[in-house]
Amino acid sequence: MTKNGSGLVLFVRAISLRRTFIRNTVPIRVHHWRAGRDDKSPLLLKLISRCPERDTQSSVPLTSKNLTALAFQRLSFRRYCCKKEDTTEGNMSGMKREPTAEQLTQYKKHVKGQQPVLLTGNGAPIANKTASLTVGPRGPLLIQDFVFLDEMSHFTRERIPERVVHAKGAGAFGYFEVTHDITRYTKAKVFSSIGKRTPIAVRFSTVGGESGSADTVRDPRGFAVKFYTEEGIWDLVGNNTPIFFIKDALFFPSFIHTQKRNPVTHLKDADMFWDFLSLRTESTHQVMILFSDRGIPDGHRHMNGYGSHTFKLVNAKDEEFYCKFHYKTDQGIKNLPVEKAAELASSDPDYSIRDLYNAIANHEYPTWTFSIQIMTMSQAKTFRWNPFDVTKVWPHAEFPLIPVGKLVLDRNPENYFTDVEQIAFDPAHMVPGIEPSPDKMLQGRLFAYGDTHRHRLGPNHLQLPVNCPYKTIMAMNYQRDGFMSLYNQNGAPNYYPNSFSGPEECPAVRSPPFPVSGDVDRYEPVNEDDFGQATLFWRRVLDADAKTRLVNNLVGSLRNASTFIIERAVKNFTEVDGELGRRLTEGLRNAGIKINLCGKSASL
Ligand code: HEM
Repeated sequence: MTKNGSGLVLFVRAISLRRTFIRNTVPIRVHHWRAGRDDKSPLLLKLISRCPERDTQSSVPLTSKNLTALAFQRLSFRRYCCKKEDTTEGNMSGMKREPTAEQLTQYKKHVKGQQPVLLTGNGAPIANKTASLTVGPRGPLLIQDFVFLDEMSHFTRERIPERVVHAKGAGAFGYFEVTHDITRYTKAKVFSSIGKRTPIAVRFSTVGGESGSADTVRDPRGFAVKFYTEEGIWDLVGNNTPIFFIKDALFFPSFIHTQKRNPVTHLKDADMFWDFLSLRTESTHQVMILFSDRGIPDGHRHMNGYGSHTFKLVNAKDEEFYCKFHYKTDQGIKNLPVEKAAELASSDPDYSIRDLYNAIANHEYPTWTFSIQIMTMSQAKTFRWNPFDVTKVWPHAEFPLIPVGKLVLDRNPENYFTDVEQIAFDPAHMVPGIEPSPDKMLQGRLFAYGDTHRHRLGPNHLQLPVNCPYKTIMAMNYQRDGFMSLYNQNGAPNYYPNSFSGPEECPAVRSPPFPVSGDVDRYEPVNEDDFGQATLFWRRVLDADAKTRLVNNLVGSLRNASTFIIERAVKNFTEVDGELGRRLTEGLRNAGIKINLCGKSASL
């Protein structure tokens, strides 16, 4: 650092003053230059404290070093909240192509002929990028060829671990707007007034496939929303189904193993898949949703999202409510027929990424209506199902949807790796007024995501622009160092308590205490009715054609498993409804599988 700030900031300042004192400098960082140019609002605004209740100023003194750090963050983060993309038509060949195909042409337009000078990683100009340095035209390479070493050693480290689940996905940015007042349920500032907008990032994903797998497979879809609130990041890491397969987090690694590849054959394995699911009967409800039409959504825009778990809301009077979050597509539900999905899996495996990107680039911004269900503390005590069981819904007739707002996606990522691959959602990221419930699955998730991010992205992943709580300035705390620390809090004390104006506690956001009691043990679920809601789904939600498609889809998958596993699964489906069991038996027999009626002789 120099006295006045880092080299980068000096550099950016120079650019914003449009000094072209070094001929090659100006075009180098097109993004920073463009972002910085209209950046007229004072940096001071960003220093408003994280404790608005106490109306205190941040404990960060306004030193030039802090301004430097903030200027850097500001330039990096502006694009997450402000910048709209330019999607003007036209291309070099004159043919009308979809926006995904036009990306490079658009880039060229942005650069406006100011082609940057090619640099090494340390910023030195490169004279020749087409030949490595050799001893004579046919001779060996030289270790002093830094242009080669720099290029190759960066390339060999390009890949980071893919997500252990939900590896294939698409992302976009936009905002959440409050349309209805729910301040009687929660003090979370994101809901504080009608009309309020909060920037969001969303990532959609499939679950089981690798990052190169096809988009149009039968699988739940992830629908994760990151709210950049002034009280920090709130991550609502949901799926396109209101429920899940299992109810105890301890099963999650085994469950996921059965959805992925057999460790010997490296193939998807029907025995693994159906063995686990048929042994865990609480999965029946979700399995029926998965094998219904909704198991293959038509892209990401035509599906709903759900927080799935039960959460707790706390209002300004410290009153508590249980809550479920729903975000329903305004584009209408659309699913892909099985044959079409199979065809797309080979002809356009990135169908859903393409569809989302093109829609946003064409200004057809997808939106979702955001609602909550509320259950009071006393209702939770007498509810006929365990309200914290993520394999169950709360019936809408008893717990109607309460409208809250809109999710709008109006901006594509500027770079897939920085904006989508590096985005890190964590159900443990909550803000004052939104808290976990005792849902065992949610509790398990509160640990797993931060843990995997530290492995996948490193201990400072929350400093990455897409993940940082930029509305609160950078997090001020007592964490320091570690790989890739962008913002190490300069001279602020790194221990607490201290006498040197380090960041202070904010008692105003204290959660109300809640009672917990009971004997510590490993409790199996007892009499939790694994089939009742699945029965309602079969009898009340599906029409005759949808039932037929569900039976066909189940037969098409089950037939690949071992007979004893098929019989066990059919027996479970018979518990849902005798008709479902009979039709599955018939379908499987027609497919050449010799099973006993409704799985009755299954060796369980
Ligand atoms: C105990 C149960 C669960 C565990 C341990 C677990 C664990 C994980 C892990 C390790 C990841 C990868 C995160 C990353 O590398 O960025 C992930 C991703 C994800 N999980 Fe879970 N998960 C669980 C249950 C659920 C449930 C019930 C839902 C939905 C209701 C869900 C939704 C998601 C989504 C949407 C993603 C992708 C986030 C993104 O787009 O980056 N998970 N999960």
